[in-house]
Amino acid sequence: MGTFRAFRVTREEDGRFTRSIVERDDAELPDGDLLVEVRYSSLNYKDGLSATGNPGVTRNFPHTPGIDAAGVVLESADDHFHPGEEVVAIGFDLGMNTPGGFGQRVRIPAAWAVPLPDGLGLEESMILGTAGFTAALCVDKLEGAGMKPASGPVLVTGATGGVGSVAVTLLAQLGYEVHAVTGKEARHAYLRELGAAEIVSREAAAEATRRPLLRETWGGVVDTVGGDILFNAVKGLKYGASLAACGLVASPEIPATVFPFILRHVNLLGIDSVELPIEEKTHIWEKLAGAWKIESLAALREELTLDTLSDAIDRILAGQMVGRGVLDLAR
Ligand SMILES: NC(=O)c1ccc[n+]([C@@H]2O[C@H](COP(=O)([O-])OP(=O)(O)OC[C@H]3O[C@@H](n4cnc5c(N)ncnc54)[C@H](OP(=O)(O)O)[C@@H]3O)[C@@H](O)[C@H]2O)c1
Repeated sequence: MGTFRAFRVTREEDGRFTRSIVERDDAELPDGDLLVEVRYSSLNYKDGLSATGNPGVTRNFPHTPGIDAAGVVLESADDHFHPGEEVVAIGFDLGMNTPGGFGQRVRIPAAWAVPLPDGLGLEESMILGTAGFTAALCVDKLEGAGMKPASGPVLVTGATGGVGSVAVTLLAQLGYEVHAVTGKEARHAYLRELGAAEIVSREAAAEATRRPLLRETWGGVVDTVGGDILFNAVKGLKYGASLAACGLVASPEIPATVFPFILRHVNLLGIDSVELPIEEKTHIWEKLAGAWKIESLAALREELTLDTLSDAIDRILAGQMVGRGVLDLAR
């Protein structure tokens, strides 16, 4: 048994949600096969929703968010894992209603963990985290639907955000011509450094139009924002191309018609990193550690500690984070 530090969100009697850093004990963690010493976690948009009491993410408070955790197994009741082994856990219920990676220890079912693949360090796995994993899942599904560098430019929306910045970097590394949609004028140079060939303003991408179709432009789209931007991108897909939809920071609704589907043969692909079966998660992690290893990962990292986390949560909710916030739990 041991004690550890954790970020904690509490629902006060007046309904407000407050944040603090508390000392906790292993005995307070839920049952599970693996007790893991979390070395790194990362900040995702969903953690911001959990930290502000969004009932679609977290219902039980007090709560420690953190949908991502990378660390070392301390105790294992499962034959597939042994103490000392490095593991990564993302998604499932971690950080939703199960205490998550914003604490120095988690206890989880073995079925949520993946052995850290050779070729990827613990910190690197959390520079990626759910956001980077999801970017790779989008690219994997788009390529499975036929997307290739020769298909044409690929649009990435919410491009300076977590999913967006990894998508821009990965696609550019794989030889795609990336067009990046951003609302941050001051970050155009950053996006070009990550590999974007062209920048599209958020306003232009969201421009209201009643036209059922737009000029055939995109060989593929990674959309992290939803709303008008998503469906404008669908209207601009080349014949037979696909859009991978993973996010909703602009809106969960889409102003859709069937025209792009029945006139251009295009596909709207759904992306879920949370309940994705563990075998498929393992496959994507192995790709990210091997053929899709991003050599410039450090360029995406902003270092966070338990003490600086609350400010970063406010920034991600305001759409102001750039790249990936990586939480170092030893600091
Ligand atoms: N399906 C899944 O499994 C899965 C997994 C991970 C994430 N997600 C979802 O993907 C989305 C992005 O997550 P994230 O962690 O990358 O968040 P993030 O770091 O906050 O990035 C979102 C980016 O979207 C842009 N943006 C913000 N507000 C906007 C608005 N009102 N209209 C248009 N663009 C806006 C901003 O980029 P610019 O300033 O560059 O435009 C922002 O940085 C979230 O909705 C998240 O829940 C889903």
